[in-house]
Amino acid sequence: MVAYEEKTLLKERFFMNIPLEGASVRSRKLERFKCQAVPAARVVPTLAEDVLQGFARRPRVLPPKYFYDALGSELFDQICDTPEYYPTRTEARLLDQSAHSIICQVKPEHIIELGSGTSRKTAHLFEACEANGLEPSYWPFDVCEEVLHAAAEALLEAHPWLSVQALIGDYSAGLAHLPQPAGRRLFVFLGGTIGNLTPEESIAFLSELRGLMREGDAFLLGADRTKAPRLLQAAYDDASGLTAEFNRNVLNVINRALRGDFNPHAFDHLALYNEALQRIEMYLVARHDQEVHLMALERRYGFLHGERILTEISRKFTAESLTAELRAARLNPIRHYQTEDQYFSLVLAQPS
Ligand code: SAH
Ligand code: TRP
Repeated sequence: MVAYEEKTLLKERFFMNIPLEGASVRSRKLERFKCQAVPAARVVPTLAEDVLQGFARRPRVLPPKYFYDALGSELFDQICDTPEYYPTRTEARLLDQSAHSIICQVKPEHIIELGSGTSRKTAHLFEACEANGLEPSYWPFDVCEEVLHAAAEALLEAHPWLSVQALIGDYSAGLAHLPQPAGRRLFVFLGGTIGNLTPEESIAFLSELRGLMREGDAFLLGADRTKAPRLLQAAYDDASGLTAEFNRNVLNVINRALRGDFNPHAFDHLALYNEALQRIEMYLVARHDQEVHLMALERRYGFLHGERILTEISRKFTAESLTAELRAARLNPIRHYQTEDQYFSLVLAQPS
């Protein structure tokens, strides 16, 4: 773990932008905010390597972590408010109902959240802490620096007792370099993001997390459930077109990183539910034959009309498949919270 001095400047500039706020309020917020990079614990492919490898396969594939540049995170936040995207509001309701029970069982001194995004739903846990006289510190971990800053800003404002230790990094590069604060920790992984990993990736990830956990620590996992395919497909293809824009934005990210000339509008958004694999598959589909030049790779890629790039999977779970996955990583589910419609699950687990 390296101290992240370089970020101090950026951090201060960020807080300077808050209008109409006294210097003392601002400095008190700064005292409660730290930001550091989590170095990779193992070698992971660069974006260039991911594109080279992914575009050599059929169908072509891209890792989903590249969705989340500043615009991508902003678009994702907007997707969460669409009528079709039920997971966010369902999970928020479930957290609201179960937060007291979770917090009373775990009594965390630290809350460490993986892929925390805007941290909007996590607020329910902080409220339950407040109500129970607990003041844990919060460690949001995300690959998108901009969203971490925005989330911290809102949280420091809403919870005057809270200290935020933002962690910038890629969890696919391992968790071994995560800070290890002393005291009971609640690890949190929400939003059904576990479903964006293949079963093999997920079990490896959960096992790694399990390896960090000490006696008394707990893990709260939010996962989306199987349901009628039309509901699932609508959630990943909202009528306002935000998900389509989010999906296409990954091509802008590649253009920027690799000096490419993808025309995002030459690709259609497609979300399909694969019943056999119980997962949503999100694709970009070439609208016509085209050639794309990625200058930084000195390569040209041809796309035929109708050819697909797989940009994300989102697996859906049954109560059984979810607990089986946790058990495979030696995590023992101790409570399962679910909505009446069984749309979404929150599982509280401990190392077994
Ligand atoms: N937990 C939030 C956000 C879910 S979207 C919610 O429930 O609404 C997935 C989040 O994980 C995004 O904020 C994205 O930036 C982050 N993310 C995706 N891949 C990541 C990776 N490899 N390492 C760290 N964060 C990642
Ligand atoms: N973790 C979210 C999910 O699987 C990510 C997500 C939601 C997403 N909607 C999306 C990713 C649309 C890409 C496109 O539900």
